[in-house]
Amino acid sequence: MDDKELRSARQSVPPNAEQLINALRQIGYSFEQAVSDLVDNCVNAKAKNVLIRLQYDDQAIVQLLVADDGHGMTESLLQRAMRFGAHEDIGDLSLGKFGMGMKLASFSHAKTLSVHTVSGASACGRRWTVEGISRNWLLEEIPSEEAREATAGPFPSMDLARCGSVIEWSRIDRLATSKNGVDATLSQLFNRLRVHLGLHFHRFLESRRLSIRLDSQHVDGSEADRATEIAALNPFRYDESGAPEFPQNFPVTIPEIGKIKAIAHIWPPNSKSPEYKLGNRAASRQGFYFYRNDRLIQAGGWNGVVEHETEPHTSLARIAVDLPESMDEHFGLNVQKSLVIVPPPFAESMQAATSASGVQFSKYRSLAERVYRKKDVRAQTDYPLVPDGALPAELARRARDVLGDGSKTRPVKIVWDELSDPGALFEVDREEMCLRLDKRMRRKLLGGKRGTQTDLPVVKLLLFLLLEQDFDKARHSAQRRKQLDALSELLSTALRFE
Ligand SMILES: Nc1ncnc2c1ncn2[C@@H]1O[C@H](COP(=O)(O)OP(=O)(O)O)[C@@H](O)[C@H]1O
Ligand SMILES: [Mg+2]
Repeated sequence: MDDKELRSARQSVPPNAEQLINALRQIGYSFEQAVSDLVDNCVNAKAKNVLIRLQYDDQAIVQLLVADDGHGMTESLLQRAMRFGAHEDIGDLSLGKFGMGMKLASFSHAKTLSVHTVSGASACGRRWTVEGISRNWLLEEIPSEEAREATAGPFPSMDLARCGSVIEWSRIDRLATSKNGVDATLSQLFNRLRVHLGLHFHRFLESRRLSIRLDSQHVDGSEADRATEIAALNPFRYDESGAPEFPQNFPVTIPEIGKIKAIAHIWPPNSKSPEYKLGNRAASRQGFYFYRNDRLIQAGGWNGVVEHETEPHTSLARIAVDLPESMDEHFGLNVQKSLVIVPPPFAESMQAATSASGVQFSKYRSLAERVYRKKDVRAQTDYPLVPDGALPAELARRARDVLGDGSKTRPVKIVWDELSDPGALFEVDREEMCLRLDKRMRRKLLGGKRGTQTDLPVVKLLLFLLLEQDFDKARHSAQRRKQLDALSELLSTALRFE
């Protein structure tokens, strides 16, 4: 076929705009991923401050604003930016790959996207609506005064008079109000944003290159409320490594692609740190942490390198990988920029990797597992329990000899107290590692005499021996609780005969 024939055999068949936008709205952005994509653009625009404002009425969240004090856009830049598939070559600081982020993120939650921006002296704005797109991509121009007003705020710590942008979602239709009301919905969404943005931008937040604030506002125009600032969540910030020989660098050579550095960490077991728990999903947060331009793209997941992605025993294994720009054509991102799509030989290369000090990758995983399992064993048996303080010194020493194993012990305090349950004779306080005994029992046993710190040692020791196992959290079952209630009642009855 020559050129002419080829031309005559082809026709341009543009998509049905209405169906296309409806399909694009379902691409699968979560709320926090969508907001994060807007913040990403703010960071590209060199913003120092970002404000995310959720606006609500009595029934629902109806509008969202993301304001930033970055460099803003001129009118011609804005016009190009609104295009689906805007392609601006902004060099290696950008994560924008498809020129779609702002639009897709917004339409995944709302039916109107308005962009107001100030650059130099002029303010301008553009608006997409689902209906405008459906009617063959009709983009609305927002009058300059309206754009000026929208950027005037007020926004805390920001002045957008000279430059900056305000992205607005209105007619939000994809944020369900929880059955507990708008208030509860707002606090859930704030929590989700705190984890996602705190993680995704943790390097920017830690180095104070960026501050992200959140607030909410009733649409009747009242003052903003619930103002809070996003704190960095660094998934590698622990006090002491779970294994002293870690972290270690595993250089990975991927055939025909190049070398990358994978820094493998082992978290200390039992960590309560929010940076370990990451929204209470530690087991699904093991694996790779891929960074690109200091943004954390993927926070956990094994990308096909291991079979069981969320095996709880390997929860302590986290590996940081900084992807250089030169790898962009091999390591792709999904549209939401939340997952890295690794090149096919990656899994094998990673499995074959050995650290500088000779640890194989598989060894690293089994070491992480050993550290975790040790935690399991420790949590169940730990060091032997011994009664603390409430016994005559000589008896306490003997008890330590008999009950302890000569090295470390866990003391349990025994005190006379007024118990929260007036019918109970004892209370096992696992948090404080304290056995509380009912004061009235002591009075009765001492026959009204004044007691001393170390009185009634036989009673204390016997109760300690009876209840020792209940200081292990693992044994704290509903059935055992019932048994303890019954025991307490039985002892109360016995006490009547003293
Ligand atoms: N907050 C902002 N400040 C300045 N420019 C922005 C902002 N948000 C978006 N833009 C411009 O809009 C363009 C399109 O954004 P987007 O749809 O997210 O695609 P991408 O980020 O992939 O380029 C960006 O390349 C940028 O030029
Ligand atoms: Mg973008």
